[in-house]
Amino acid sequence: MSTTPEIPDPGLILETPRLVLHRPTRADAPRMAELANDVAIAENLSILPHPYGLDDAHAYIDNTEVSAARINLGVYLAGEADGFIGTASLMPRDGERFVVGYWIGRPFWGKGYATEAVQAVVDLAFGRLGVEAVAATARVTNGSSRRVLEKCGFQFAGSGMGPSLHHRGMVPIDRFRLERSIWMSLKNWAAKPGGAARSA
Ligand SMILES: CC(C)(COP(=O)(O)OP(=O)(O)OC[C@H]1O[C@@H](n2cnc3c(N)ncnc32)[C@H](O)[C@@H]1OP(=O)(O)O)[C@@H](O)C(=O)NCCC(=O)NCCS
Repeated sequence: MSTTPEIPDPGLILETPRLVLHRPTRADAPRMAELANDVAIAENLSILPHPYGLDDAHAYIDNTEVSAARINLGVYLAGEADGFIGTASLMPRDGERFVVGYWIGRPFWGKGYATEAVQAVVDLAFGRLGVEAVAATARVTNGSSRRVLEKCGFQFAGSGMGPSLHHRGMVPIDRFRLERSIWMSLKNWAAKPGGAARSA
């Protein structure tokens, strides 16, 4: 392990070229409820209720955590008041220390924001938190999320079934994994002139 693990401060702020990530506050709840109330988000996450209202947003925000065990961050457009556009998290699951989770509100899809946010939390996991691997899952039908993971360097690690609150049962998923060695290679390539296109 090349870094000293560091427990993040609850006031942790991650900055990327276009985004700021930090713990969400109750002021974000109306916009969170508006953006998350989308079946295309609920059907691709394991436990997002649908319909999604203000009470759901308050419950999520009140239970967010920024600790060595789990990290739940809001994703915001840098420099914009009321710039909340989604969430990104690192959560323990299935014996993995961190599984990355994320959603971005539909009006903001296709602009590279999820990729930028995932790269930021992945950099946090390998950097300050010193983990050896980060895991992810995506429904087999979720081409967009699979593409995000691919752009971040994740590799296919097998198929299985995962829980879906929306479908009230289990759905087919693929598992993905990013090892520290791959992440370090990507960071090194990106640091060289003409290197890989990693923005975080
Ligand atoms: C998945 C999600 C986070 C992507 O957010 P985003 O900000 O649009 O993602 P990005 O712009 O960074 O990248 C999306 C990529 O998927 C590609 N894409 C879009 N639809 C696709 C599809 N049906 N099949 C394959 N690729 C697709 C885009 O072209 C883009 O790739 P590119 O940069 O090579 O062109 C967003 O759609 C979302 O929140 N979906 C619902 C919740 C969810 O699925 N969360 C992840 C759970 S595993």
